[in-house]
Order: sequence, then structure tokens, then C-alpha cells
Amino acid sequence: MKQNWKPGNLLNPTPVVMLSCGLPGEKPNIITLAWVGTVCSEPPMLSVSIRKERFSHRIVKESGEFVVNLVPAALTKACDFCGVRSGRDLDKFQTLGLTAEKAPNLTQAPLIAECPVNLECRVEQVLELGSHDMFIGRIVGVQVDDTLLDGKGALKLDRANLVVYSHGEYFRPGSLLGRFGYSVRKK
Ligand SMILES: Cc1cc2nc3c(=O)[nH]c(=O)nc-3n(C[C@H](O)[C@H](O)[C@H](O)COP(=O)(O)O)c2cc1C
Repeated sequence: MKQNWKPGNLLNPTPVVMLSCGLPGEKPNIITLAWVGTVCSEPPMLSVSIRKERFSHRIVKESGEFVVNLVPAALTKACDFCGVRSGRDLDKFQTLGLTAEKAPNLTQAPLIAECPVNLECRVEQVLELGSHDMFIGRIVGVQVDDTLLDGKGALKLDRANLVVYSHGEYFRPGSLLGRFGYSVRKK
């Protein structure tokens, strides 16, 4: 038997990321986001949905830039902190001992040096959906820690130990269940 629930967003699991943003003359900020999605391959684009009342909202809107920093398990606590404290009240980079580093392909938003993968984005569109504004970002640069590359230069993303989020809880991905196309591959 299924229960017929009222509409709600139970799409799970989701990524959880630390978005870094900045404006000239202001301290840079970090906001944790789970309403994040891959939306286009060519050109590469992603979406982030941010409530208007977030301190970061104005920064992203005015600068037209942000960096999506992927979160390794070791930074789970920092990630949670950036999702429960506001840049209005404190400097999250300083409090957490994180490094705001110049993003090579952007002019205003810094990247978080301690995150192993940084997606540098320029805002292409803002859609006012309701509770959240959805920013569609074009990925204009990708920074990857070289410890994630094997001897042939192939990306081994499993080495990053990235966190996933599900219904209020953070998880480390578990065991490998299969590879792309394995259901039809001949032995
Ligand atoms: C796991 C997690 C996911 C979150 N996802 C979002 C989100 O997708 N969009 C959003 O507007 N706020 C989200 N938040 C809440 C913001 O991160 C939080 O309000 C934060 O303190 C805002 O920071 P700021 O005021 O410095 O911008 C999330 C918080 C957590 C802990």
C-alpha cells in the first residue's frame, strides 16, 4: 500500500555543495546548498536554487558569478556550518580556517582551496520560481586537485570521498553497484 502524500520535494539523494561568492570590497562568503542540479552538457551548465533572504543571494545576483565547490567527507562539518550560520554575522572562511583563493576564470567569486574540485560559474539566467530563485550558471572553468588523477591523467573522482545528502542527513557514498552501461554489456 502507498500513502497519497501532499506535494513536496522528496527528490533524493541530492548533491550537497559549498558555494563561494564575493564582491569587491566585501568579505567573501560560503553558503551550503542541496538544491543543485546538472542541467546541460554542451555548454556545460548547472543550477543552484537560493532563497532571496540568504545573505549570499545578493552577492551572487550582483556579481553574476559563483563557484560550486564539491565537498569531501573531511569537510562535512564545515559544510553543515556554512548551512546554519550566515555571512551577515560572521566570516565563514575565517571561522573555519578555509582559504578563499582566486578562481582563475572569474573576477569576483573566490574558490575554496581545500575542496578538491571547483566549478567556476557565470550566471546566465535567474528564474524566480517561488521560495527559491534558480540561478543557471555556465561552467567557465574547472579546477581539479591533481591527487584525483591517475598515472594516465584520468579523473578518479572516488578518491575525493564526496558527500551526498539525503533527507536531512549527510552520507559518504557506499559500495560500487555497477558502471555506466553494465546492464547491457556482454561478458
Ligand atoms: C544541507 C543544507 C542544504 C541547504 N540547501 C540550501 C539550498 O539549496 N538553498 C538555500 O537557499 N539554502 C539552503 N540551505 C540553507 C543555507 O545554507 C543557510 O540558510 C545559510 O546559513 C545561508 O548562508 P548566508 O546567509 O551566509 O547566505 C541549506 C542548508 C543546509 C545545512
